[in-house]
Formats: sequence, structure tokens, C-alpha cells
Amino acid sequence: MSKPGSPLIVANWKMNPETLREAKVLLAAVRRRAARLKHTRVVVCPPAVFLQSLATSQSNQLGFGGQDCFWDTSGPYTGATSPTMLYYTGARYVILGHSERRFLGETDEMIRRKVRAALGAGLKVILCVGERERDTEGRYLQEIERQLTGALTGLSRPWAKGLVVAYEPLWAIGLKALGADTPAGFLEQAIYIKKVVSKIFGKDAALSLPVLYGGSVDAKNAARFIAEGEAAGLLVGRASLDAAGFSKLLDAVEKSYAAQSSPRA
Ligand code: PGA
Repeated sequence: MSKPGSPLIVANWKMNPETLREAKVLLAAVRRRAARLKHTRVVVCPPAVFLQSLATSQSNQLGFGGQDCFWDTSGPYTGATSPTMLYYTGARYVILGHSERRFLGETDEMIRRKVRAALGAGLKVILCVGERERDTEGRYLQEIERQLTGALTGLSRPWAKGLVVAYEPLWAIGLKALGADTPAGFLEQAIYIKKVVSKIFGKDAALSLPVLYGGSVDAKNAARFIAEGEAAGLLVGRASLDAAGFSKLLDAVEKSYAAQSSPRA
């Protein structure tokens, strides 16, 4: 695969922390660390109710995102948040199709409509795909292809520029995880994802598509996904809630990328 650009680290806080006060403390630590990053970019995705208070200043190294959005800009949709609302509260990214939302009933068709609306609102979409189980017959590949085509079919090629795909196998996510994938396992999936995307948007779009890894990422394994797995970045859940651990993770990624991009003798 071609060499990735600056690593993108997405912090998916999910439904945490409980109070805005705690969220501000956590963000302050991330902000301090991000200010010293030269290569790595961090996108913090807090709960939507905290966005307005947190996304007050953005920089090249630190940006903000939503964890989901609705497929329309306004209307009679109780409880929903539109992509334009996210945009105007400071988000420039939105995570869509996360497995925890698919588990709550989100279908490929709903995700497709959300992707279109979010891109239309000027947000970059972090589209999550990943199999339930890595079976030996290769059915998991069909599952990933279905998720990608389900979410992207019908979009015209220029929209591909706003797209990031996060590969997150379900068995590697959250408290019940079996553990992270291997960097080699991720690399195989990333190549497959690009192959499917090239059928939809063409080869150039597929080559420049950033593919992130997510699922039990921590300070110990993060750098290997960037270096050995050639990941364009990482989608981090639990480990993004611990300020000290997340800073270590950012350090590890930054060092690994700097070593990769420095000229070799
Ligand atoms: P995890 O979650 O890092 O806690 O496994 C990742 C995710 O769900 O995005």
C-alpha cells in the first residue's frame, strides 16, 4: 500500500464522561498534548451535548467530530441531531455506522442517507465497517463489502474526498473484546476495503482513501498499527478516556510516524 499521510487519531468518547466539567478536564489534557504534535492530528468526538462548549478553538492538530447524525437538516425528528447542527457547533467530522449504532437497529440504507447528508453539510465522514466474526470461509469479506456498498452506492465520485473508513472488527471492540486485531490482519482488510471502494469510486479515490484501525487500541499497540499495519490512523474508544494513557498513545504514534518519514541512510 502507498505510504499514509499524517496519522489521524479519532477519540470516540461514546457516552462519556458524565459531566461537562469532567469533559473539559479531559479535553484540556488532550489539547496540551496536541499542541506539541508535529505530524499527528487528533479529532475528539465527545457526546453531542458537549460539543458547543468544547469545540471552541480548533487547530491543525486538534479538531472535533460528532458520533452520529440524522439524515435531514431539520424537521419533526424527536431526539435527532442534524449534520448542519454538528457543523455549526464546531464539528468537522462525524462517525457514522458505528457497530454500537448498527446494534441499535441502524441499517445500511439509514447509514447511506446519513453519509450523503453529512457530506452535503460539509462534514468529513468516518464510516465504520467491520465483521462480527472472522470465519474461515471468508463470509466476513462479504459482510464488509455489503456495508461499504450499502453506505456508498449512489454517491458521485467527488464525494469520496470527504470520506474516511474505519475498519473495526466487532470482536475487537469494547469491554467484551477478544483483543485487538494484528497489524497484518488490519493491513489485509485495508487492502480489501480499498479494492471494494475502487469498484464504487474508481482507483484514484481508493488509493487516497484513509483507512483507520479501531478496536482495543491502546498506548502499547497503537504505533504498530501505524508502522506495520500502515494504518492512516486509529479510532480509539476506551483508551481515549484516560488522559495519561491517551497522551502516551499520541506520543507513540508521533514517534513511530516521525521515524517512518525521516530519510533513511
Ligand atoms: P475500543 O472501542 O477502543 O474501546 O475497543 C473502539 C470503538 O468502538 O470505536
